[in-house]
Amino acid sequence: MPIGPLKQLIYTSIPNVAIQTLLTPEFVRQIQAKNRRLEITGTLVSRSGKVMQIIEGPADSVNRLFASILRDPKHREVVLVLERIVPEREFPNWAMTTFDVDKQPFENIFEPGDLRRRGSRILDAFKRGLWL
Ligand SMILES: Cc1cc2nc3c(=O)[nH]c(=O)nc-3n(C[C@H](O)[C@H](O)[C@H](O)COP(=O)(O)O)c2cc1C
Repeated sequence: MPIGPLKQLIYTSIPNVAIQTLLTPEFVRQIQAKNRRLEITGTLVSRSGKVMQIIEGPADSVNRLFASILRDPKHREVVLVLERIVPEREFPNWAMTTFDVDKQPFENIFEPGDLRRRGSRILDAFKRGLWL
């Protein structure tokens, strides 16, 4: 079944509460269930109280989810970093994996083959504190 254009969107945000407090197992399950429904994959990276999220999927779904994120008072200072149409997903198997790059070895977050891609460079810049 055709799904229309595939879109990738990256934003940064400062959640109102610490990410560990925010991402309870129940909230993560809820997010992942909605992402499955919308056919959204991606990853969420946190560092020093800030998050950067890559979401990808059918353009309609990505637009709908980002509208929800903009409405959600749990986010402060949402900054749209990149949106583009992509030929294929960069995180096809990730319903939404979260990483705290202050605590986890960052290298482990990529599947082989993703390393040269743009999303990886952006994530790396985030890790090094070049953003926000
Ligand atoms: C840091 C952070 C990341 C989030 N990531 C997602 C996500 O990947 N998918 C999702 O459905 N909701 C995510 N949410 C929740 C959305 O902001 C929103 O509350 C949820 O989609 C419900 O939206 P609705 O009330 O418009 O249905 C996230 C919230 C925060 C604070």
